[in-house]
Amino acid sequence: MRALQLVLFLSFLSFFDACLVISGFQNDKCTPKDNTTYLLAYSNDIDSEYFSRLYKSSKVGYPVARKFVKLARVRFDVREPEEIEYYDNLNEFLSDTNYSLPDPRLSYNSTSEGSDVVSVLKNFLGKTKSPICGSKINVLMKRLPTEVDVESIVAKLRKFHVEVYFAISERPFGGNTLESLNEIAFKTNGLSTILTDEKLNMGVLHTQHYKEETLIYAANFNVSGKGTIELPPMTVPYDRRIFAFLMSFKDDRKILRNDPLIYDNYEFAAVSDALQSATITCTNTVTNTEFVYKYGVYEGYVNFRRTGGSLDKGIYTMKFEYEYANQDVERLFIRVSTLYNTPTVDYWVPYDN
Ligand SMILES: *[C@@H]1O[C@H](CO)[C@@H](O)[C@H](O)[C@H]1NC(C)=O
Ligand SMILES: *[C@@H]1O[C@H](CO)[C@@H](O)[C@H](O)[C@H]1NC(C)=O
Ligand SMILES: *[C@@H]1O[C@H](CO)[C@@H](O)[C@H](O)[C@H]1NC(C)=O
Ligand SMILES: *[C@@H]1O[C@H](CO)[C@@H](O)[C@H](O)[C@H]1NC(C)=O
Repeated sequence: MRALQLVLFLSFLSFFDACLVISGFQNDKCTPKDNTTYLLAYSNDIDSEYFSRLYKSSKVGYPVARKFVKLARVRFDVREPEEIEYYDNLNEFLSDTNYSLPDPRLSYNSTSEGSDVVSVLKNFLGKTKSPICGSKINVLMKRLPTEVDVESIVAKLRKFHVEVYFAISERPFGGNTLESLNEIAFKTNGLSTILTDEKLNMGVLHTQHYKEETLIYAANFNVSGKGTIELPPMTVPYDRRIFAFLMSFKDDRKILRNDPLIYDNYEFAAVSDALQSATITCTNTVTNTEFVYKYGVYEGYVNFRRTGGSLDKGIYTMKFEYEYANQDVERLFIRVSTLYNTPTVDYWVPYDN
């Protein structure tokens, strides 16, 4: 009897604990329709002219999804860490961003110092100024971090369904762990896109951004050489809507900072440019209608491909055909999302790893 009472008491305690956790802005029970926050985090090491391209395209760009009740912004990789700032509307957000462009006078004094990006993510998750659950983060990276406890930050991000989208310069400096950024993005159903400095802004505009877009599909898998594979089926929630098919990929080679041979070939070690072609075929399991999308190659998109097309409601089998120029193992990450004029879905796509 005592034992039973103890068990009841303990389970009451854990119930009580759960109630505490879900109160207020640290609530982890949300859907993609609920009020939340958008965060733009940008390294101070980005060329301010390229960063301004993002600012300019946002000014003429898409409407902010209604669910983003706050737009947040932070500049990182500065000697004196800055606070995350929160805004109620896009105009305030943009005009303030215009006055906080990357500024070389604020930079670390060494290009080999690691980025503080992960503390920025942790800091954001600890804030109570605006809802965290379901928030979306775009990060512009020029400097890599040095040591990252990926598991711990991923667990926190997943708990609150936060998707992280990195846009990383193809010529980074600083630390040595590009891989940890990839892991954070892929494990939060985000993406890690590598672009030329001139195109870094596209890594933000073409991922979730602050638009009314929601993920409906995420698959991660390994391939090599040339072939066709069957991906998990995809559920499309709406009829005759346009969906965006995003893909990023990387090969299995590691950046070995202490190896002068590889470090000289930094870009080749970090990024594969071996993808020749990629096509996805979605077949409706009821009507057998096929939709075939070939991923486009755009200048400056190093490991990132994008295509899009109309689909009808239903469940689809997914066939992926690929051709690489070499036989290395390549990790591929496919995401499908609604576009900004499509209604939001009310469920989270499960994590695929
Ligand atoms: C979401 O935010 C809007 C605008 O700030 C507010 O009017 C509405 O009550 C909020 N909804 C919930 C469920 O908190
Ligand atoms: C952006 O800042 C510059 C000064 O740094 C200023 O000349 C310009 O008017 C600002 N633009 C906007 C839209 O605020
Ligand atoms: C660079 O900054 C570090 C601390 O962040 C300091 O220890 C070091 O002396 C500085 N180096 C120079 C050349 O100023
Ligand atoms: C793909 O390969 C990477 C690197 O070898 C490995 O860490 C990962 O677990 C593999 N993923 C799958 C789904 O097999």
